[in-house]
Amino acid sequence: MKIGLILLMSLWITAAQAMYKIGVGIADVTGPPAGVTFMGYGKMDQRGMGIHLRQFSRAFIIEDGNSRIAFVSVDSAMLGDNMKIEVLKNLKPKLPGLYNLDNLMLSSTHTHSTPGGHMLYTLFDISTWGYVPLTFISLAKGITLSILRAHDKLDYGRVFVNRGELHGVSISRSPQSYLQNPEAERAEYEYNVDKTMVQVKFENEFGAPIGVINWYAVHATSMNNSNRLVSSDNLGYASVMFEQRMNPDSLIGKGRFVAAFASSNLGDVSPNVRGPRCQNSGKPCDIPGPQCEVNEQCVASGPGRNMKESTKMIAEGLFGKAFELMNEKPEFEIKGPLRSIHQYVNMAKENVEYTDPYTGELINGRGCSPALGHTFSSGTIDGPGLFSFEEGSTMSSNPLWNLVTNVIPKPTSEQIECHAEKSIVLSSGEFNYPSPWSPKIVSTQLAILGQLIIVCVPGEFTTMSGRRLRKVVADKLCNDLKCIVVIAGLCNTYSDYVTTPEEYKLQRYEGASTIYGPHTLPIYLKQYAKLAIALADGVTLQRGPEAPVFTSEVVSFLPPVIYDTPLSPYGFGDCIKQPPYSATPGDTISVKFVAGNPRNNPMLEMTFLTVERMGSDSKWDIIATDANWETEFSWETKSWFWATSVAEIKWTIPEGTPAGIYRIRHFGHFKYLGGGRLGRYYGATETFKVTEK
Ligand SMILES: *[C@@H]1O[C@H](CO)[C@@H](O)[C@H](O)[C@H]1NC(C)=O
Repeated sequence: MKIGLILLMSLWITAAQAMYKIGVGIADVTGPPAGVTFMGYGKMDQRGMGIHLRQFSRAFIIEDGNSRIAFVSVDSAMLGDNMKIEVLKNLKPKLPGLYNLDNLMLSSTHTHSTPGGHMLYTLFDISTWGYVPLTFISLAKGITLSILRAHDKLDYGRVFVNRGELHGVSISRSPQSYLQNPEAERAEYEYNVDKTMVQVKFENEFGAPIGVINWYAVHATSMNNSNRLVSSDNLGYASVMFEQRMNPDSLIGKGRFVAAFASSNLGDVSPNVRGPRCQNSGKPCDIPGPQCEVNEQCVASGPGRNMKESTKMIAEGLFGKAFELMNEKPEFEIKGPLRSIHQYVNMAKENVEYTDPYTGELINGRGCSPALGHTFSSGTIDGPGLFSFEEGSTMSSNPLWNLVTNVIPKPTSEQIECHAEKSIVLSSGEFNYPSPWSPKIVSTQLAILGQLIIVCVPGEFTTMSGRRLRKVVADKLCNDLKCIVVIAGLCNTYSDYVTTPEEYKLQRYEGASTIYGPHTLPIYLKQYAKLAIALADGVTLQRGPEAPVFTSEVVSFLPPVIYDTPLSPYGFGDCIKQPPYSATPGDTISVKFVAGNPRNNPMLEMTFLTVERMGSDSKWDIIATDANWETEFSWETKSWFWATSVAEIKWTIPEGTPAGIYRIRHFGHFKYLGGGRLGRYYGATETFKVTEK
């Protein structure tokens, strides 16, 4: 008995010593919710008008005795190296020497419904009229805070990996491109998109789960380009569902358990599973363009009746599978050393020699200076561009684009030759005014966590590109060992798309957006093989050419908020549309307040609204904020000249809401005329009753 106990204790001690320290953290990164164009669809008039779901940054840190790795998933369309450099700058005085380019990974979820203007490269900031400091600052502050919170909580714990297949939430949006890949290669896979979900579970030393990172390749484009409310889309709502389940007593973004649904090789993967159809006639189509009637778009939708329902259904699918995986027996526990490596690469200067594995031909390729092809401007079935014309065509019939290409210098003959099949619409690598248009230098990064390998890639890899990359990395690092390689998408740098050379030939949207030319993927395969070998051998690589930081050169044309005046004869925060006297679950309540411009202050870590219930002690308990699915905060200008505006708050009362006395409050800031000082205001509705049905 005694010996048994000692044995047990010594086992326990060894186990404790071998344990990692882990920490998870979440912070708000919501940008200016109104007046700024959303990033992703490139549609200028898709400007924010409020909030449906807040944006969050979710950080996960794992540490052994010697080293640590921080993985951060951010509800944003994309991020640039500037952001990572800024976050490291913020962290340095607080945690000197701990986080650096090598061990910090920033990956965006790729939601298309969040404010832009933070990329600094001109092409990505055109639709927001240039740089939007508030978007950049909100992201930088929140990402930093999420890492600090995760670091603060570092404590002994264990990390497990699980995998499962999920169907019904994704389709290929470029099946024709996929078919260009060699038959023998396609025969190795059952589907034309990846259906495997990989999930990492973090458990504290008492065995209670404290967080998950989930990777499933799908675009966060269930909300389409007509949406004007900030949203983290399907992946973000899956995170919220998971966190609400695990933190039932916390408001969203305030709980202990953190669940990230991070991006992967989603380049050609759409969540709009009903597939593309002509908007009016309902005829099937496959690309934005002339298969539909004039002025009719070819768009994909589903599985729901509208985009909100589709977002919810895709999120439910993702969350359902993820929750199941968390509760199943894990495939393995992550053990062993933690290592990570990062190198900058100037893609426009790389060469690659490779044998085409399928034709046996020896190819001498090089990277090109960035350029986009014609079909880039037509958009995709998830979001047709402003200038839809046939995808795959080489000449634009759109006068506006032809004008743009006339004003902007023509690509050099060297560029045309380098990009081969691409018919260049925008040779973005050749413009540096007012700041560079597209990145030439990208971040490449790799991390080994025992048998889990995270490949952090600087863009949107298509399904097959991701598969080839995973294979190359597994080849170098896994040998016969069981290991899992995941692609972390849109990581550190955003440099558009990456297709296989075969897919590139067809020049659909993804190929037209593969900005370094036909050999982009082979260059990455070579580069990540190099990183893998260096990590395995413990070799330090040179940093590579530094990514440029050019914050001072960027321009901003977005007019600032000058002042706010309250709608006469009211004051800020006055409720001008009261709720009904009573309501029941399932009803949507709408109330209105006299408001200030929400761009004055995005209320990070706070909220523009609360739904409150009177507790038994006659105190008000907050039961929902602007981060909840069932609430919507929207804002509208009543007079541009007087700068008067109104905020509308909607609350769809969820089933199961207890009967009682309720009220809704609104919070915001207004700007004084002259000087730009801000004032705070708040207001409340009259109380109303929620009764059972
Ligand atoms: C977006 O979704 C709505 C339904 O929620 C639909 O009416 C509209 O046509 C869609 N627009 C596009 C461009 O897909």
